[in-house]
This record gives sequence, structure tokens and C-alpha cells, in this order.
Amino acid sequence: MSIIVSPSILSADFANLERDINLVKDAGAKWLHIDVMDGHFVPNITIGVPVVKSLRKVTDLFLDVHLMIENPEKFIKPFADAGSDLITFHYEAAKKPAEVISMIQDFGIKAGISIKPNTQPEEIFPYLSNVDLVLVMTVEPGFGGQSFIHECASKIPVIKENAPESLIIQVDGGINNVTSKICTSLGANSLVAGSYIFNSDNINKAVQSLLN
Ligand code: DX5
Ligand code: ZN
Repeated sequence: MSIIVSPSILSADFANLERDINLVKDAGAKWLHIDVMDGHFVPNITIGVPVVKSLRKVTDLFLDVHLMIENPEKFIKPFADAGSDLITFHYEAAKKPAEVISMIQDFGIKAGISIKPNTQPEEIFPYLSNVDLVLVMTVEPGFGGQSFIHECASKIPVIKENAPESLIIQVDGGINNVTSKICTSLGANSLVAGSYIFNSDNINKAVQSLLN
């Protein structure tokens, strides 16, 4: 099974985003992970719709948008219109997850559902046959550069055993050349990495080490 690497621009240079995304593209990444935070669902504020719109104009990378926001249903249309290829929302933030999933897919794009470290995988079982992706957070969402929480990785096989073969299982938080192998050996096939890639002296090598 091939691994999808999704570099998180949270650790990129925001004054030179186009340059940085071309570096990860040249290194072989096909996806780009965009962390949207609202200062309510998580204690941090990052970027919003205009950034996705601007990135869409300069790249053909698959735009993987991770919404860490309350009331995600209010923002599906603007993020879809901005050019997202996948929108992942948090299960904990949605009153009606099934409705958010169909709202996203109605725009002809992929839908993902994410769980925080303290949410049990069983809670999202009802959605596994409808979503395209499950994002297992391996840190508390909110900041880049945190350490991988090992216990979270045990959710991967639980989800895999209860999901259709086609489901993409993504991990996000503290992913590097060591923790990536733990996750892929347990069944994850998409790796988000921010600081490991963008804070590295050799972006090309960092992306390659996750791809292989
Ligand atoms: C954290 C974000 C992550 C973050 C990962 O809330 O969802 O995508 O950028 O950063 P690293 O790879 O540095 O842990
Ligand atoms: Zn993320």
C-alpha cells in the first residue's frame, strides 16, 4: 500500500508559502495539509479561507484541509469553494457528523472525520462507511512541534478492522521518521508532518524518509 505524505504548512514560512510548497512537491509529496484553527475549538488561531484560495492558484497539490473549529458545518461551503480537495472536521465539534460528511461530499470532494487523543475510536464507527478518511490525532490539536502520544496509535488497527478497505487512515502530530513507521505498521496510510519536514535542513530527504 502506498503512503500518502501530507506536509503541514503550519511549520512552513508563511511569508514564503509558495516557495515552501514547491520544495515539498519537488520532494515527491502529492498532498498539502492545511491546519485551520479558530481559537475556540483549540487554543490557537492560524489560517482561513483566503489562504486556501491563494494556494489553490499556485499549486496543483491535493489540498487536505484540517478544520479544528467549532460549528464546522458553517464553513464547509467557503472552504470547498476556495478549492479544498478534502475537508476533515472534528467529530467532537460537530453536532451532526453525518450531515457534515454529506455536506462536504455534495461539493464533489472528499470528507474526513478526526478524533482527538481522548476520543475513543468506537465513537466514530457509525461513520466509517461514509467517510473517505479518518484522521487519528497523535497530539492534542492546536500546535505544531509536540511529541507523539504513543497510546493514540493503538486506535489505528481498531479503526482499520471496522472500516472498508478503501478508507484512508491518517495520523497527525509528532510524526517523524520513527513514529511514522509505528503508524504505518499498524495500518495508517497517510502521514501528516509539519515540523519534521519544514524544520529539517533537508526537506527533500525528510519527505523521502516518510514516503519510503
Ligand atoms: C496540530 C496540527 C498538525 C501540526 C502537526 O494541531 O493538526 O497538523 O501541524 O505538526 P507536527 O508535525 O510538528 O507535530
Ligand atoms: Zn493537522
